[in-house]
Amino acid sequence: MIYLDNAATSFPKPKRVYDRMNQFLREEAANPGRSGHRLSVAAEAQIVQARSVLAKFFGAPEPERIIFTLNCTDSLNIAIKGVLRDGDHAITTVLEHNSVLRPLNALEIAKRITVTKIRPNAEGFIDPKDIKKAFRKNTKLIAMTHASNVVGAVQPILEIGRCVREAGLLLLVDAAQTAGVVPIDVERDFIDLLAFPGHKSLYGPTGTCGLYVSHRAKLIPWREGGTGFDSESQTQPEVFPFLLEGGTPNSVGIVGLREGVEFIVQEGISKIQTHERRLVKALREGLLGVSGLKLYGTEDVARSAAPVSFVVEGIEPQELSLVLDQSFQIASRAGLHCAPLMHEALGTFPQGSVRLSPGYFNTLDEIEQAVRAVRQIQSQMAVS
Ligand SMILES: Cc1ncc(COP(=O)(O)O)c(C=O)c1O
Repeated sequence: MIYLDNAATSFPKPKRVYDRMNQFLREEAANPGRSGHRLSVAAEAQIVQARSVLAKFFGAPEPERIIFTLNCTDSLNIAIKGVLRDGDHAITTVLEHNSVLRPLNALEIAKRITVTKIRPNAEGFIDPKDIKKAFRKNTKLIAMTHASNVVGAVQPILEIGRCVREAGLLLLVDAAQTAGVVPIDVERDFIDLLAFPGHKSLYGPTGTCGLYVSHRAKLIPWREGGTGFDSESQTQPEVFPFLLEGGTPNSVGIVGLREGVEFIVQEGISKIQTHERRLVKALREGLLGVSGLKLYGTEDVARSAAPVSFVVEGIEPQELSLVLDQSFQIASRAGLHCAPLMHEALGTFPQGSVRLSPGYFNTLDEIEQAVRAVRQIQSQMAVS
């Protein structure tokens, strides 16, 4: 199998992730911090260490401001619904995944907030000036993706962050397609809330994710419950991370996520980014040579994350993806990629596109095989 669906979740994971999770689950997986016995205390220490590793990785000054969540959707919901209040205005973009669009739409339909959606240019980039122009007196939050999960375009977050901060507003960044590949520093980039999946380019298992919450963002939790701390209180402790972390955490996943991040630190994020860029460049160049193929996104791979989207005239994306899987053992993803507005903007709604998303463990040879497969499918199946 040639796995080119890393934008959905990375696969495989580094060996140390499997090894550590196996060891933890067999030998150490007591409920972290809930009981006084040594296994519970040791398990809690593992969670604390994982928090510190992630905080350092994202330049977050206080580890307790990193909270563990279920997935990126969970982080984005906690942030959006926790920070917005009745009468607020939020700004987002047409690039967004449904995990940003749907919570905002739900609040707007309930007439609790208003939302402005900014359009990207033809390559998939948002102009910071357009964000600034959309500021209103009651704007509180700018919620946007760091990179499009359809075309890979990496957004000018630093520039956007600077003007959001100057205006005294909050920036929520969905780093689903960048965390682990594009360097992120929440202080340098003026990020107030950072949603990052553990299971994509941070190489943790599914069911791991995080949210960084700065002091500037005042969040109301929507989930209250046991924290193993301050149990005499009838209400959720105000203290981080407990305010937003009711319930037993996914400790097995979190120790795996920590190993994934340690792997990145050991390899070096720039080495990972360089390799992925090389793969994306080869993939884009190869696909451009396939007749009847329309490629989306930017030619500038220095401003692109892994997702590469295309359509082939005369072949439905779902069909092409199926043949890639069944005849060539190549994993891709076809359809709308949970980003319907982006596909509308590209003119690929409702059928969507085929997305190939290389990861660090792919090789140039695999990319060449994928290009050859698409070429062969085009020559045999395209109906004009
Ligand atoms: C840009 C973007 N945001 C959010 C998500 C949602 O992530 P999760 O499936 O972890 O909830 C994804 C998933 O692919 C994504 O690509």
